[in-house]
Amino acid sequence: MASQGQVMFWSMTTVIIILAAVIALIIGFGISGKRSINVAAFTSPGNIGQSGLLGCTFEPDIWMGSIVIRWAKVGVAGLVHEFREGKDQLQEQDVVFQGRTVVFADQVIGGNASLELREVQLSDAGTYRCSVTTSRGSGAAVLRYRTGAFSTPRVQVQTSGSGHTLHCEAPRWFPRPTVHWTAYSEAGKCLPHAANTSYELNSENITLKVVSFLHDTTANATYTCVIENSIAKATGNIKVTASSHHSSATDFNITRETSLHVVNLNTESVSSSLPACHWMLLLPMCLLSI
Ligand SMILES: *[C@@H]1O[C@H](CO)[C@@H](O)[C@H](O)[C@H]1NC(C)=O
Ligand SMILES: *[C@@H]1O[C@H](CO)[C@@H](O)[C@H](O)[C@H]1NC(C)=O
Ligand SMILES: *[C@@H]1O[C@H](CO)[C@@H](O)[C@H](O)[C@H]1NC(C)=O
Ligand SMILES: *[C@@H]1O[C@H](CO)[C@@H](O)[C@H](O)[C@H]1NC(C)=O
Ligand SMILES: *[C@@H]1O[C@H](CO)[C@@H](O)[C@H](O)[C@H]1NC(C)=O
Repeated sequence: MASQGQVMFWSMTTVIIILAAVIALIIGFGISGKRSINVAAFTSPGNIGQSGLLGCTFEPDIWMGSIVIRWAKVGVAGLVHEFREGKDQLQEQDVVFQGRTVVFADQVIGGNASLELREVQLSDAGTYRCSVTTSRGSGAAVLRYRTGAFSTPRVQVQTSGSGHTLHCEAPRWFPRPTVHWTAYSEAGKCLPHAANTSYELNSENITLKVVSFLHDTTANATYTCVIENSIAKATGNIKVTASSHHSSATDFNITRETSLHVVNLNTESVSSSLPACHWMLLLPMCLLSI
């Protein structure tokens, strides 16, 4: 049977150990303050020659000086961009990205780590990683960037004696898109159509100019030219409203409408934590083993 003294001793020891563990946990959090923070990345396809946005957001931190944003691309030795201590730090930037990247310094405090990529090139396609460290912890997210060329078509009517020829033209596409036309009469009936589409290589040797003709079209029907590839889809609608009394070439109205949509993929997000995080677990264990 244990004496009262021994019971006292063991319960005191237990209390001390528990207190030590609690204190160690608090200190652990205090010293490192590191845990994983939420970082999310997203984007839409880049259009060759234009500016693209690689989107990235993180849990905001009021301490600007502690925020480090690093953009890296799989297969590229240097960094894409680094932002630290409130400004760009481009010593480790890969030459491929020189002069083409922007992080929005005034937006960083609000949790915006997005990167603007200028003069997008076909070769910019790939996997990018946005890593963010703040005083609260760190995290990273990955996105897949796709590049190509896409543009809104222009639809026009060429009127000859026999009827209307529709003309759909878009200046820049890559990869080579498919073109098809749909046609609906006022009654909603689908009309037959035979288009003549051609592609012409633009001077920069990558993108194609797309031209498609649709002959012998009917008045009062809506025709849609659809240009589509793996990264974008564009449509151009046209309707020629003609009076049946005056079939003269000038007596008709044209209604037009165009749209351009990019094909978005789901982006994957991953969260990771710094090695510093282990302090949180190690410290209490060290104290307990004293
Ligand atoms: C980040 O800031 C830029 C520049 O103001 C803006 O275009 C972009 O939409 C912002 N992104 C997010 C996710 O807020
Ligand atoms: C398509 O265009 C080619 C070349 O301009 C021409 O030879 C051909 O007859 C056209 N076909 C149709 C269906 O208009
Ligand atoms: C375009 O490509 C062709 C063949 O691939 C090449 O001969 C030509 O020099 C290129 N032109 C330009 C402007 O790059
Ligand atoms: C074309 O539109 C004008 C003004 O909207 C209208 O006055 C005219 O009757 C229309 N013509 C036809 C053929 O629909
Ligand atoms: C086209 O529609 C207009 C008014 O919507 C009508 O006046 C005209 O007769 C129609 N023309 C043809 C060729 O059906």
